[in-house]
Amino acid sequence: MDIVTAISGASGALYAQRFIQGLVAAGANVHLVVSPWGRRLLRDELGMETLDVDALAGTKQHSVTLHNYNDVGSKLASGSFLHDGMVIVPCSSNTLAEVAHGIGDNLISRAAAVTLKERRKLVLVHREMPLSPIDVNNYKILTDAGAIVAPANPGFYLNPTSVGDIVDFVAGKLLDLAGVKHALETRWDPTNVRPPASGEIV
Ligand SMILES: Cc1cc2nc3c(=O)[nH]c(=O)nc-3n(C[C@H](O)[C@H](O)[C@H](O)COP(=O)(O)O)c2cc1C
Repeated sequence: MDIVTAISGASGALYAQRFIQGLVAAGANVHLVVSPWGRRLLRDELGMETLDVDALAGTKQHSVTLHNYNDVGSKLASGSFLHDGMVIVPCSSNTLAEVAHGIGDNLISRAAAVTLKERRKLVLVHREMPLSPIDVNNYKILTDAGAIVAPANPGFYLNPTSVGDIVDFVAGKLLDLAGVKHALETRWDPTNVRPPASGEIV
């Protein structure tokens, strides 16, 4: 299985890291593109002074290939490269707008445009709050074009007790959307909900 994964400059680097780790655990080939602001994000939120693919994969034994963001001549820029879907996580409003409007002057937006034209699965994990009217219009444009807008929007019905639980919730949803099996706790099950401990807000 081949999944294109892009990291743009929106908050939520942990979502990307956990998603990539889930792909690697499932044995998927990960084709990774990181925007310059995505790199800045990895520094600010994960402390990566330089991009560390092993740390994103969670192991040195992985099948993550890094592609140059500026190389729109990369194989990811062509429909000839068959893959099983593309996930942009996290997705900035800037990248959301580029993809919505068919701009393809970097490898993230170009690979996304190709994914749409080939009618393959494209998931955009947008993160912004509140949404501008432009973001909302772009959600509509992208959804009409066949993309899946999956905002980084964790549920709390599994009663998370750590940041990791919250991150896993989103990463698990993304792995589901990518069609990848995983063991992260994501699904609501009425027989398996941890009751709140006494003192917690109910
Ligand atoms: C640490 C950090 C966090 C950011 N968080 C967001 C965010 O959550 N959503 C967003 O749309 N932009 C965010 N930005 C701004 C984008 O990075 C900026 O608009 C940039 O041009 C996006 O470029 P890219 O889409 O090529 O990655 C953030 C920037 C930094 C440095």
